[in-house]
Amino acid sequence: MINKRFAIIGGGNLGSAIAEGLVKSNAIINDNITITRRKTHLIGYLKQKGVNVLTDNVSAVKNADIVLLVVKPYQLADILTEIKPFLKPEMIIVSMVAGFSLSSIGTIIGDQIPLFRGMPNTAIALCESMTCLAFDKKWNAYIEEVTAIFDLLGKSVIITEDLMASATVLGSCGIAYALRFMRAAMQGGIEIGFAADVAQFITAQTMKGASELILQSNHHPEQEIDKVTTPRGITISGLNEMEHQGFSSSLIQGLITSFKKIDKQDK
Ligand SMILES: NC(=O)c1ccc[n+]([C@@H]2O[C@H](COP(=O)([O-])OP(=O)(O)OC[C@H]3O[C@@H](n4cnc5c(N)ncnc54)[C@H](OP(=O)(O)O)[C@@H]3O)[C@@H](O)[C@H]2O)c1
Repeated sequence: MINKRFAIIGGGNLGSAIAEGLVKSNAIINDNITITRRKTHLIGYLKQKGVNVLTDNVSAVKNADIVLLVVKPYQLADILTEIKPFLKPEMIIVSMVAGFSLSSIGTIIGDQIPLFRGMPNTAIALCESMTCLAFDKKWNAYIEEVTAIFDLLGKSVIITEDLMASATVLGSCGIAYALRFMRAAMQGGIEIGFAADVAQFITAQTMKGASELILQSNHHPEQEIDKVTTPRGITISGLNEMEHQGFSSSLIQGLITSFKKIDKQDK
């Protein structure tokens, strides 16, 4: 059990997914989780699970050990100003806000409170997030505690802050890219004969299997592809046609386009 009280400021897509993940982990007492947003009726289901749902950021922060900031970048400065008088050095703050640097946050709240950036993805709701963490080395003593939380909610990796924009694209936007691949594969599956629900099931489980093959073996993907591609076979013909049509190139170009956009917005 992690005997800490969590305040999730911003119960939108990611904030509510984090609350769901914390509940699912069974490692935190649900009553120790507080989540805020203005339209609280949209997250009533979390209240039913015993999570405290509030509109008041100050009350949430006052009672917290760990404060997770999960609002949009343009909302963050006002919220930091609002909660600043109630932050204490014994708390830990983790900002999930893309494009908002540790130093920009520090400019508002000062440098006395342990501060981290985390870049998870929405699979955090199922405790399957990939979360990239960055921090100033002066907060080294707290990283084990922070890592323990995100390892409950999936896997975590520590990166330097200059890679946060890249982490946002590869890990957080990455969920959407993978799902678009899934949709495309399903559409192909329907064209070759499957009902949509069956095509979805086959595609999703196949993607899960492909991920596990790599995660569990640490093999390069091409090493696993070699096992599936018979000389003059059907798999290699399909793969090569995908490449002729720009499959890898379009994925890489998409990643770079997202990266260029986020990099321009960094504060
Ligand atoms: N979505 C992802 O997959 C993902 C992944 C990694 C990082 N992030 C980062 O996480 C942050 C949130 O993203 P999101 O997709 O979850 O956005 P979102 O769905 O818009 O969530 C933000 C939430 O903040 C709430 N909010 C706004 N003002 C508030 C205030 N004054 N007090 C309390 N709550 C307030 C809003 O709810 P009300 O309008 O009801 O107040 C809204 O639901 C962003 O900075 C994003 O860069 C997102």
